[in-house]
Amino acid sequence: MGFFDFLTEEIAIDLGTANTLIIHNDKVVVDSPSIVARDRTTGKITHVGKEAAMMQGKTHENIKTIRPLKDGVIADFDASEKMISMFIKDIPALKKKWITPSLRMVICIPSGITEVEMRAVKESAERVNGKEVYLIHEPMAAAIGIGVDIMQPKGNMIVDIGGGTTEIAVIALGGIVCDKSVKVAGDVFTNDIIYYMRTQHNLYVGERTAEKIKIQIGAATEDLELPPDDMSVQGRDLLTGKPKQVQISYREIAKALDKSILRIEDAVMETLSQTPPELAADIYNTGIYLAGGGSMLRGLDKRLSQKTDLPVYIAEDPLRAVVRGTGITLKNINRYKGVLIK
Ligand SMILES: Nc1ncnc2c1ncn2[C@@H]1O[C@H](COP(=O)(O)OP(=O)(O)O)[C@@H](O)[C@H]1O
Ligand SMILES: [Mg+2]
Repeated sequence: MGFFDFLTEEIAIDLGTANTLIIHNDKVVVDSPSIVARDRTTGKITHVGKEAAMMQGKTHENIKTIRPLKDGVIADFDASEKMISMFIKDIPALKKKWITPSLRMVICIPSGITEVEMRAVKESAERVNGKEVYLIHEPMAAAIGIGVDIMQPKGNMIVDIGGGTTEIAVIALGGIVCDKSVKVAGDVFTNDIIYYMRTQHNLYVGERTAEKIKIQIGAATEDLELPPDDMSVQGRDLLTGKPKQVQISYREIAKALDKSILRIEDAVMETLSQTPPELAADIYNTGIYLAGGGSMLRGLDKRLSQKTDLPVYIAEDPLRAVVRGTGITLKNINRYKGVLIK
């Protein structure tokens, strides 16, 4: 421990395609949508997180909302750097300090991002006083956050269904043995609902409404044990142009999402088929762990379980499993050095 260590603060960041979470001193201090708003005339990023999310779909020509990591790649380097730095500067305990502390951080990134993008994330973090910056892959952080002992010579399958990507990985001995990242996750489900409403009900709904439908009555199967009540949905009638309301049941949403869920099922089956036999034998006993917001879709666990004939467990608080795991890695950095990305 060095003399100036009291000036170092530790933070763990889950840089998600939909949500960014930060842990500082064992507490989640940031939990915000990964969205920024940019003023088109000045080019400046004016809002970030929840404030920017409120503007989504309601902007005029001078302002634009951007999701810098939308499809699991960094679409806009400048916006993502600003986002990271504004979130870090927003941590209440750091704001109070009379000098900016140097930071030791572990950042969890979507597995699909390239070497160049990884370097960009790291450099962005270094520019906000990151003295020691480590990166970790999402399924690894999810596994640690779920409580899986990843160092064991035992295979575990993790499926993390986020906003932009679904990441599937088999982990053993502190490493990813086989993995797959598909661009079918929460955002695609939302778009499926928009398309369904348009084609089946002539109703034009925005992204925020579609996401609300997904969360309130979304389902992965038409036979749910505890079905949610029908929902009234408002939007614009595509034929008359007038605002209109329709009643929607979860069965319709299950139909709308069926094809996308099939693609996730296929990706899971494919990963299973590439798993070495000894690890497959472990997974037969341990089952599949789900994390990420998308795993909360009603009946998805049951559907995956029927498809794979394996037990499927949803992580406790699935939206926070990854940041939890990232936080644990940060606190035990020496133990987990091997799982961090160099
Ligand atoms: N109850 C829910 N049912 C279905 N989807 C949900 C639910 N809650 C959140 N989501 C979806 O989860 C996604 C965000 O998950 P998250 O794990 O934060 O993604 P990321 O790690 O990519 O940022 C969004 O698409 C959101 O709509
Ligand atoms: Mg995530």
